[in-house]
Amino acid sequence: MVCCSAPGKVILFGEHAVVYGKPAIALSVNKRISSIMSWGDKKTTINHMELDEEKQPFLVRAIEKTNIKKPLSVTTESDLPSGAGMGSSAALTVSLLGSLHALKEEDTENETIAEEAFDVEYDVQGSASPIDTSTSVHGRAIFISDREEKNLLWSISKGDKLWNIHHMDLPDMKLVIGHTGIHAPTGPLVKMVGEFYNANNFAKEVIDEIGMVVLKGKKALNNGDLEEVGRLMNKNHKLLRILGVSHPRLESLVRATRKHSYGSKLTGAGGGGAMISLTDKPEKVADIIEKRGGEPYTFKPSKHGMRLEEKG
Ligand code: MEV
Repeated sequence: MVCCSAPGKVILFGEHAVVYGKPAIALSVNKRISSIMSWGDKKTTINHMELDEEKQPFLVRAIEKTNIKKPLSVTTESDLPSGAGMGSSAALTVSLLGSLHALKEEDTENETIAEEAFDVEYDVQGSASPIDTSTSVHGRAIFISDREEKNLLWSISKGDKLWNIHHMDLPDMKLVIGHTGIHAPTGPLVKMVGEFYNANNFAKEVIDEIGMVVLKGKKALNNGDLEEVGRLMNKNHKLLRILGVSHPRLESLVRATRKHSYGSKLTGAGGGGAMISLTDKPEKVADIIEKRGGEPYTFKPSKHGMRLEEKG
């Protein structure tokens, strides 16, 4: 029996634009998914149900990636809400791939798992960037850019896009997540932005502007200037709203939390899902989120990315 766990993430800056090769910053959170795996009997099962491609596209693709033909018995455990913008599908994919390689007794590099997990997400979603999967594999905070900078982990290109994946240090800061309770899968939202992007130049300009906000955000984070970080988070949110990925429930949480925050924005794919607030008063902000019908999560950044918990 093997068990691999992987953390979820929140995106501080740059979601959606990163799909088009723009920079982005994300951090892993101390909420994880574990995949417990052993060789199965006659058919592959997940959580005691027979594997169904429609319901479990990530597992089906992850098995294909590792070229395993024998039946498997898979159980997953999670403290990450799904469809909440916290990278649950990336954490699931990473933990599945980690367990599949461990079951084959392969000593696989983190970079290989990150690359395979990105491919799986790309296939299932129809398009993607490596931000969620690489944050889940490597842990801490991740900066993605089309340029190579210090603390480079690895690079990947697809078509005309190049993503260089780096670790980055963040200043001490308190973040609160507010889950709207609306389950919003990433694939359709990425597709919707893609249609907007292909239809007109205005969407391309918005995506370019998000890229510039991310670079300013990185500078403000490096300087520990939380007021500037907050202002840029607000600006990033406004641009995401223009792209059409906000939701009235997100707007309500973002607006209400700003009074007690440096800044608030949606995080992840949007369309429901979650928002994030940078604040010195996490309890107050969590209270506001709850009063507005959202579910607050205070969390700590996770130092650890993917982790093999049991091996053999
Ligand atoms: C989702 O967490 C982030 C998106 O940018 C999609 C992706 O990068 O694959 C919306």
